[in-house]
Amino acid sequence: IHNVIFKSSDYASIIIAQEIASLIKEKQAKQEYCVLGLATGSSPIKVYEELVRLHKEENLSFSNVITFNLDEYYPMKKSNVQSYHYFMHEHLFNHVDILSENVHIPDGTISQENLHQYCIDYELKINAAGGLDFQLLGIGRTGHIGFNEPGSHYNSVTRSITLDHLTRSDAAPAFFGIENVPKKAITMGIGTIQKAKRIVIMAWGHKKADVVKETIEGGVTSEVPASYLQHHNNVTFVLDQEAAEQLT
Ligand code: F6R
Repeated sequence: IHNVIFKSSDYASIIIAQEIASLIKEKQAKQEYCVLGLATGSSPIKVYEELVRLHKEENLSFSNVITFNLDEYYPMKKSNVQSYHYFMHEHLFNHVDILSENVHIPDGTISQENLHQYCIDYELKINAAGGLDFQLLGIGRTGHIGFNEPGSHYNSVTRSITLDHLTRSDAAPAFFGIENVPKKAITMGIGTIQKAKRIVIMAWGHKKADVVKETIEGGVTSEVPASYLQHHNNVTFVLDQEAAEQLT
């Protein structure tokens, strides 16, 4: 894994947004779609803020962009403020010219009995769009990417999973208590993510320093699912100084 360390996450986020904008424009010039895999949570907020600025102030168009979000809590209503559906519209989709039919976010309202087929179809839709040109990732303190918690298989695909206790406790403040955090989620798999042509993973702050070290300097293990990225040939880990502080 190639890694770059920035003094501030604000500046790092602008650099990531610029890479995404360049890719969108490069595809536009070729009259091709640009297929983006997107993350939620605190880490990508500034990246989306910069993409919105580029749209509003520098004419960046999302008319050729197709997006697939990594994950969603399950069960979860789209209108719920804690939903990743809500997050993505609030931080990005409501402010740019992306076509709503090109936005894909796992649906936390799907019934139990249709869930398995829904996940298969999500995977098929990514493939039908030509695969992910670019995947943006954050990392959880369990080492998860998407919601692929420890134990996730290298070849895993989009599926429903049970969230780790640590992941739920990190989400507890947003839900006003761990008892309100859903126990499950729908997530793209490790195999889904690994097929992306380009991956950028971000981590900011002291709290991520331990898992960043394990991911970059430890062995490849299902106990730290992000470590599987060591096998990808085009991944950059973007860090701020605090998240990089344990690296040798
Ligand atoms: C969110 C996702 C998660 C987060 C991770 C870090 O779509 O897939 O893997 O990226 O939990 O979350 P933050 O950025 O809030 O620290």
